[in-house]
Amino acid sequence: MPLVIAIDGPAASGKGTLARRIAQTLALPHLDTGLLYRAVGVRCLEDGLLDDEAASIAAARMLDLATLDPEALRGAEAGAAASVVAARPGVRAALFDLQRAFAARDGGAVLDGRDIGTVICPDAPVKLFVTAAPEVRAQRRFKELAARGSDQTLETVLADIRERDARDSGRASAPLVKAEDAVLLDTSKLDIEEAFAAAMWVVRVKTGGG
Ligand code: CDP
Repeated sequence: MPLVIAIDGPAASGKGTLARRIAQTLALPHLDTGLLYRAVGVRCLEDGLLDDEAASIAAARMLDLATLDPEALRGAEAGAAASVVAARPGVRAALFDLQRAFAARDGGAVLDGRDIGTVICPDAPVKLFVTAAPEVRAQRRFKELAARGSDQTLETVLADIRERDARDSGRASAPLVKAEDAVLLDTSKLDIEEAFAAAMWVVRVKTGGG
């Protein structure tokens, strides 16, 4: 079975950084699936069509992985718009095959998102559910955004995270939930090195490396 590593968790839990480092260490391709929803959200925002479900589904169908620009999609508006379009089953369906195909690559892959272990790769041999307290996540995202020149306050960032958590966990279609067989990794009190070491330990145990 190819080594598919599924990493899920809420906003700013550290799942993206972990996914990138694990992929680099194991020389596996990595797909940040949040970027797909961000790209669809941004497209709809730009067209003034965020409330238009059909337009968001059409944008998802037209999405081309090769043209995604991660830097342009990391802002807070893109995250909020992503979470709006991501609640629509038609948008999720339109992005399904692309994610499945990425995961089915010969040597394996690392995918991170909200529903990788539950919907996209339910048979993945390694599943991690990365989380942290909302206040800790807000602090991390605040620093990240400030470094990018954003003037958002910590309070605004925390409010955004809480709103996104509620929308992502409360939606009917592929809600953010830990897969039964996922290993929970709470990074509230871990720095990135500690979280990475814990994640790699899970990978080794789950792949029989001990
Ligand atoms: O980095 P952060 O966790 O803030 O955001 P992200 O992973 O880029 O995801 C942005 C939004 O896309 C999330 O709030 C989810 O609503 C949605 N998403 C999803 O529904 N399913 C995924 N597999 C990935 C992201």
